Amino acid sequence: MSGELLKLIEPELQEVNKILKMTCKIGFETEGKLPLTGFKIKATISIDNPSLSWNTTVSVFNLTQFPGNCAIMITHETYQSYDYRKKGLSVPIHKMKEKIARHFGYSILLATTITTNLNDNVLEKAGFKKVEPLCFLSSRTFKRITTWMKELT
Ligand SMILES: CC(C)(COP(=O)(O)OP(=O)(O)OC[C@H]1O[C@@H](n2cnc3c(N)ncnc32)[C@H](O)[C@@H]1OP(=O)(O)O)[C@@H](O)C(=O)NCCC(=O)NCCS
Repeated sequence: MSGELLKLIEPELQEVNKILKMTCKIGFETEGKLPLTGFKIKATISIDNPSLSWNTTVSVFNLTQFPGNCAIMITHETYQSYDYRKKGLSVPIHKMKEKIARHFGYSILLATTITTNLNDNVLEKAGFKKVEPLCFLSSRTFKRITTWMKELT
């Protein structure tokens, strides 16, 4: 499965390399079986330089099937390491997520964010739409939460 995914997202990985002016690799860890509840993919983009001894993680993102609905993939726990933020990486990384979710037959990508201008801009730029009835104040964290969706048609 990993080889297939690598081929699929090769153009976006090249885009990451172009932005960072270095060579990165991407690794996938999967859990569960399609289309059963519990299917998950964790992707880690790191610098492909074995001589570096410090942490070389550039970005991590997680895709998990919505419990009880095999047409929805949730994108969650996406982060870029501090040194690699504000460089435009969210654009190719969102394209990767969409390609992967489409490849596995999902119709919708769903995300929630703590509402900030940065999170809003990044998701809007990636073509996500706010799910207005699911924008709310969290009674656990007292932070405003925005829910986002993108149709993968
Ligand atoms: C949210 C997060 C994933 C965004 O990733 P990112 O790679 O920094 O996103 P981008 O660089 O593509 O875009 C962020 C901003 O940088 C700007 N930017 C893009 N390329 C740039 C460049 N070359 N130079 C300067 N700024 C640039 C973008 O325009 C954008 O600013 P804007 O929102 O004012 O338009 C990252 O900040 C992060 O890991 N945050 C912590 C975890 C988190 O909050 N995750 C939730 C994800 S929804």
